[in-house]
Amino acid sequence: MDRSFLNDRGVIARWRPFLPVTDATPVVSLNEGSTPLIHSPRLSQIVGRGCRVFLKYEGLNPTGSFKDRGMTVAISKALEAGAKAVICASTGNTSASAAAYAARAGIACYVLLPAGKIALGKLVQGMVHGARCVTIDGNFDDALRLVRQAADSGAPVAVVNSINPHRIEGQKTAAFEIIEDLGEAPDAHFLPVGNAGNISAYWRGYNEFHALGRSTKLPRMVGFQAAGAAPIFHGKVVEQPETVASAIRIGNPASWEMATAAVRDSHGTVDIVTDEEILSAQRWLAANEGIFVEPASAASVAGLLKCTRHGQPASEVCAPCPLRQFPDEGVIVCTVTGHGLKDADTVLKGGAPLDAPIQATWEAISALLG
Ligand code: F0G
Repeated sequence: MDRSFLNDRGVIARWRPFLPVTDATPVVSLNEGSTPLIHSPRLSQIVGRGCRVFLKYEGLNPTGSFKDRGMTVAISKALEAGAKAVICASTGNTSASAAAYAARAGIACYVLLPAGKIALGKLVQGMVHGARCVTIDGNFDDALRLVRQAADSGAPVAVVNSINPHRIEGQKTAAFEIIEDLGEAPDAHFLPVGNAGNISAYWRGYNEFHALGRSTKLPRMVGFQAAGAAPIFHGKVVEQPETVASAIRIGNPASWEMATAAVRDSHGTVDIVTDEEILSAQRWLAANEGIFVEPASAASVAGLLKCTRHGQPASEVCAPCPLRQFPDEGVIVCTVTGHGLKDADTVLKGGAPLDAPIQATWEAISALLG
């Protein structure tokens, strides 16, 4: 039997020459990456002028978020270095991914989570994969501070937050895939920003392929933070970040400087979207495009919809508009970072009414169907 197919999937298998791995690296993979780039006819129509909008649906990774791209590299490298345990702080997705890849690698995983602020599906993922899930009486920024302290203390654990450079390396592959799918880089790339690793990773990926001549242009990087958790937008640490989009409830992003450089060098911007805009974009995407994403993921689409509403130059709530002077027939990619099923609670809390049961008779059903 030809078993070669077993090894030809996953981020490291597909992008090995661009990643910090060698033949000595034991590859820990769950066939992550190669996610679909889905054309969105309705968003394209809303933007108008012949522009095309695509959604990079990262919720279709093995643990349901983009984190798997970086985790395959981080866990493989940790194993190569002889680590017996890994640790991370998380708003839920990094921990779900770390737990799954650590289980696969056969090493221990510790996760520090802000108590009461993790979507249930993500918490369950960490638990079922056998991670030691520790909730703290503090927010994500506190958890990350403690993880840094664990690293500095010399404790025998490898940190797999995005302060681990292997995470960013793995995550940049999403930009490679987009260039391969489109045959060119997009004109603008919209994505949610929390700890700010992903926007930095995409920018690195776009630059690497541009330098190799695989694309002729670079996109404007456009990041969206939740209005109540927008340190980069405001240019200062937010001590008590608050947003319904728990994945990006972060007040002091680790990759702040890298993200700021990506935005500056790409002539992009960082803007904010309100919780209402986020939830409304989440519902819109599910109802109109058949794509169910978690609230944080909807921030990119909420941002695009906001841009089409404001359309014109900066106001107090709208950073310099990325759609201003946007080329006709331009291409926009929005990354939707995580699957909606991770956070069913938020949808239910928003009121998803289920009618009382009806009689189990054909008469009742046929009356319903008219
Ligand atoms: N979208 C989702 C679904 C996320 O889980 C995160 C980050 C982001 C966007 C923001 O990406 O941090 O690279 O700017 N989640 C981290 C976690 C913080 O712990 O799972 P970023």
